[in-house]
Amino acid sequence: AASQMWGGRFAAGPAAIMKRINASISFDRRLYRQDIRGSQAHCRMLAAQGMIAAADAEAILGGLERILAEIEAGSFPFREELEDIHMNVEARLAELIGEPAGRLHTARSRNDQVATDFRLWVRDAIDGMDQALSGLEDALLDRAEEHADTVMPGFTHLQAAQPVTFGHHLMAYVEMIGRDRGRLADARRRLNESPLGSAALAGTSFPIDRAATARDLGFDRPMRNSLDGVSDRDFALEFLAAGAICSVHLSRLAEELVIWTSAQFRFVALSDAFTTGSSIMPQKRNPDAAELIRAKTGRVIGDLNALLIVMKGLPLAYSKDMQDDKEPVFEAADTLELAIAAMTGMVRDLTVNRERMAAAAGAGFTTATDIADWCVRALGMPFRRAHHVAGSLVKLAETEGVGLEDLTLAQMQAIEPGITAEARAVLTVASSVASRTSLGGTAPAQVRAAIAAARARRAGA
Ligand code: ARG
Repeated sequence: AASQMWGGRFAAGPAAIMKRINASISFDRRLYRQDIRGSQAHCRMLAAQGMIAAADAEAILGGLERILAEIEAGSFPFREELEDIHMNVEARLAELIGEPAGRLHTARSRNDQVATDFRLWVRDAIDGMDQALSGLEDALLDRAEEHADTVMPGFTHLQAAQPVTFGHHLMAYVEMIGRDRGRLADARRRLNESPLGSAALAGTSFPIDRAATARDLGFDRPMRNSLDGVSDRDFALEFLAAGAICSVHLSRLAEELVIWTSAQFRFVALSDAFTTGSSIMPQKRNPDAAELIRAKTGRVIGDLNALLIVMKGLPLAYSKDMQDDKEPVFEAADTLELAIAAMTGMVRDLTVNRERMAAAAGAGFTTATDIADWCVRALGMPFRRAHHVAGSLVKLAETEGVGLEDLTLAQMQAIEPGITAEARAVLTVASSVASRTSLGGTAPAQVRAAIAAARARRAGA
């Protein structure tokens, strides 16, 4: 038992089942790079402050480099009985360099060590996700530009509502992804403070330099309170929350791809590269990637919930519950990486069926609002009455089995005598879309301006 790193006061070793429930090395080995980097910063600080000899620091830094190389080469002997990544690294360091290894943990606890490692890991995950989202934004912008004039029906209640352009529709997702990136940037800013030096919970009696380790690790400053330093997992929760919201955006676009690729819609087709066939039905082209993006959103939302629930009852400071913070974050980061990449590929590759979209854009009396608006503009009618007139026209067209634009002028005038031949021009999909010139509207000129503005923001950032 005394061979256990913390075994000084123990007579017997842990039960096998205790070792299994306690060990985190199977997953927290993913922190190795951050753990080694944190230890190197701590070691340099200890030497600079005169707390360990320069020669010992040299030995420790060299040993940690070797361990990094061993792990990257796949030759590192991970051991479950050493519980976690921190003790695996430290034990190996002792094997490699002997006595100086025991000096590394001066003025440090695994509590501030793991808090530091995990912050560094989440910071990297945020940077990686931001980069991936930037690629998706790029794909959406390219396709939006290509389809700034491509008309399609806009929906409310999934009922044809008013014509919009496909470019405008895609730009709605550019806005969402932009906010997702903003949330990640906010989270990163709050995350970027160093818990290192909080020690177990109370700080330390040694003359450490927390500003130095913070700087070394790329943090903006040390965290102000040692209890908070080891207890806070807000940074992970914020990452998960931003990730969950982002995954909901991806899921909504995925759902639209599923709808749009159906035989009933045929608005878009996915490339072969992002489609699967059926083992029995030769005609099938299934949008599996979109469906899986939609499904995996459940995991990311679950990961956020899992960690919120782990944290909600914990008294200060560290509790072992907090070891369970990593798997949800790893799963969410992995899931999002995959989902964003798959969505980017689908968006880049998809082909648009302009004819189907245009035909659907005019079906279902989608320009009824335009004739009501005309009555307001040309006849000075109150909108409520104009709405009624347009409703009567729709009813007539429906009974006649024709579109609004197929009604004769006489038929229209029977409902509203003020209607002129000029009014009929507003009934086309193209004129409807072109007329929506208000800020943020679907007029192609507005869509092009929105694309240019988004590109300028990206260049500026
Ligand atoms: N593996 C632990 C974790 O991930 C490291 C911290 C352990 N601290 C402790 N007091 N037992 O949370």
